[in-house]
Amino acid sequence: MNFIVPTGIENIKTVSMEKQKYLHGFDRVEQERLLFQADFLEPYVYAGIELQSCKNLLEVGCGVGAQTQILLRRFPKIKIDGVDRSDKQLQMAKELLEKEIKSKKVRLFQQDAEKLALPDREKYDAAFLCWFLEHVPRPLEVLKRVKKHLKPGAEIYCTEVFNQTLFMEPYTPAYLSYWFQFNDYQWTIKGHPFIGANLGNLLKAAGFVDIKLEVRPFHFDSRNPRQRAEFIDFFFDILLSAEKTLVAEGRVTKAQIALMKEEVAMVKKTKDSVFFYSFIRATAKAP
Ligand SMILES: C[S@@+](CC[C@H](N)C(=O)[O-])C[C@H]1O[C@@H](n2cnc3c(N)ncnc32)[C@H](O)[C@@H]1O
Repeated sequence: MNFIVPTGIENIKTVSMEKQKYLHGFDRVEQERLLFQADFLEPYVYAGIELQSCKNLLEVGCGVGAQTQILLRRFPKIKIDGVDRSDKQLQMAKELLEKEIKSKKVRLFQQDAEKLALPDREKYDAAFLCWFLEHVPRPLEVLKRVKKHLKPGAEIYCTEVFNQTLFMEPYTPAYLSYWFQFNDYQWTIKGHPFIGANLGNLLKAAGFVDIKLEVRPFHFDSRNPRQRAEFIDFFFDILLSAEKTLVAEGRVTKAQIALMKEEVAMVKKTKDSVFFYSFIRATAKAP
């Protein structure tokens, strides 16, 4: 299927979406989930992100513009060029960022990041990638391309998943088996659900310098029951965002999902339950 790119999205190309598989899908519920996710995780994702002196930011895998919006609020002086492959995501980003696109604070580009080639190479003061590289078959290629677009000394921020770290107490076998299928499916469509752990290797191989990695845990128990409940719900929504795909692929059954829902309800009721997950933040500089 070919589509025509709407006005307001630049570097227009006709892109075939036929072969692209994407774990979460692109429907409106998923798009709303991305907006909620960005707001919900903002205090964690933006801790340590210093873009006060950045003028031109490259955001790769900008999706519906959820992070773009936050970046503009936090750092009002920056101009952002956002890149995504999906027309549906960019359509929503265009609606969300209408004012900023008109005032030329934001430009949107439809491109496959593995072939990233923007008109203004070596222009950007920084790059921002969030929950993105896990979806790309050749993340090293993306990072090499991003590096080519950065000024010497420009900072890259990568915030990525490390799905191996998800843990809940009491034991939840149906949940864990669904989570295995979720990650295994992503692996088979050439994504990488554990990519956070590889960011150091990838940034080094791409030629970045001053590479720093931080393990950023969400660890909640009876000391912080409100956050624990919120995070259990939030993660469950992430798992369920792949429900249709995993059922269609024959990887999980409705009965398993019903069981998993019971387990999650049980964990939420348990006084001494534990929720743990950790993402990885990598920062580095273009040489
Ligand atoms: C989970 S979303 C994250 C979006 C945004 N960074 C956020 O945090 O809300 C991942 C995005 O990567 C995009 N994407 C996947 N593969 C891509 C590729 N090869 N090139 C550009 N974008 C891609 C998808 O279309 C999707 O919008």
